[in-house]
Amino acid sequence: MKQAIVTGASKGLGKAIAFELAKKGYDLLLVARSEELLENTATAIRQNFSVKASTLSTDLSKPEAATVLAKWCDQQNFQPSVLVNNAGYACWGRFEELTWEEQQAMLQVNVGTLLALTHLLINKLKQHPKAYILNVASTSSFQPLPTMAVYSASKVFVRSFSKSLRYELRHTNISVTCLTPGPVDTEFITRAGMEVLKPTAKKFEMRPEVVAQKGLKAMFNRKAEVIPGFPNFLSGILSNLIPDSILIKIAAGIYEKVLPSRKVK
Ligand SMILES: NC(=O)c1ccc[n+]([C@@H]2O[C@H](COP(=O)([O-])OP(=O)(O)OC[C@H]3O[C@@H](n4cnc5c(N)ncnc54)[C@H](OP(=O)(O)O)[C@@H]3O)[C@@H](O)[C@H]2O)c1
Repeated sequence: MKQAIVTGASKGLGKAIAFELAKKGYDLLLVARSEELLENTATAIRQNFSVKASTLSTDLSKPEAATVLAKWCDQQNFQPSVLVNNAGYACWGRFEELTWEEQQAMLQVNVGTLLALTHLLINKLKQHPKAYILNVASTSSFQPLPTMAVYSASKVFVRSFSKSLRYELRHTNISVTCLTPGPVDTEFITRAGMEVLKPTAKKFEMRPEVVAQKGLKAMFNRKAEVIPGFPNFLSGILSNLIPDSILIKIAAGIYEKVLPSRKVK
């Protein structure tokens, strides 16, 4: 029985990951808020592959979301051997000017629900000879990022947590992999309100299908982390060599300089 959960599967990278897992014969539980988009994805998957695709429309910023999801698995006797914690987004703006509520909701999706879901599902994952967790971080974790302070810190959390959990689980059947993409051609920039940066991002963006393939390849090969794309991989290396005091100025030069004036004090 091959079953997998993908959060944030209504579009973008999560949708691409879901298609790749369906190609590999996994029955899927697709999770996000947009019911219609989820249904469209599930229908396309069922039409193209001989797998089952179910959907659960839920807001992962709600503290109870992980419990709702785990209950769904119990009720449907869904026994995943793959958990992809992909759902996530950024709020762009100065920390003091973004509302606490919007930043708290983002933190809950990017970190809180990821943790709760992983905690709740570990026992289910242990029921299989081999099981996998794929957590999606970001190259924005490579340096402090003014105007995306909470988002970049949330992705630092995801990378660090993934590596620690991987070590803790090293003698079990569960392998934990962190997927750390740079810019990907999805709705991420629009949701963050960063359209002004789209032309710059376009130069570096990777296709979600390619990132999904590289992420899953690393996951099934039980790798600790994958940073798709050579420029992204290189920026990871450089970020370990260049002092934060310089990196933060470079990052601010890209993100803070173009922040719409209404957001700058
Ligand atoms: N695109 C990039 O440049 C980039 C770079 C590095 C890392 N990443 C990471 O990649 C992951 C996927 O993002 P993406 O690029 O595919 O962006 P996207 O196209 O905006 O997709 C985000 C997904 O997360 C779901 N989601 C967002 N908020 C949610 C909530 N409150 N409850 C449930 N689901 C929610 C969305 O579904 P609904 O809106 O339907 O709820 C959607 O399925 C994220 O973790 C992101 O941080 C992206």
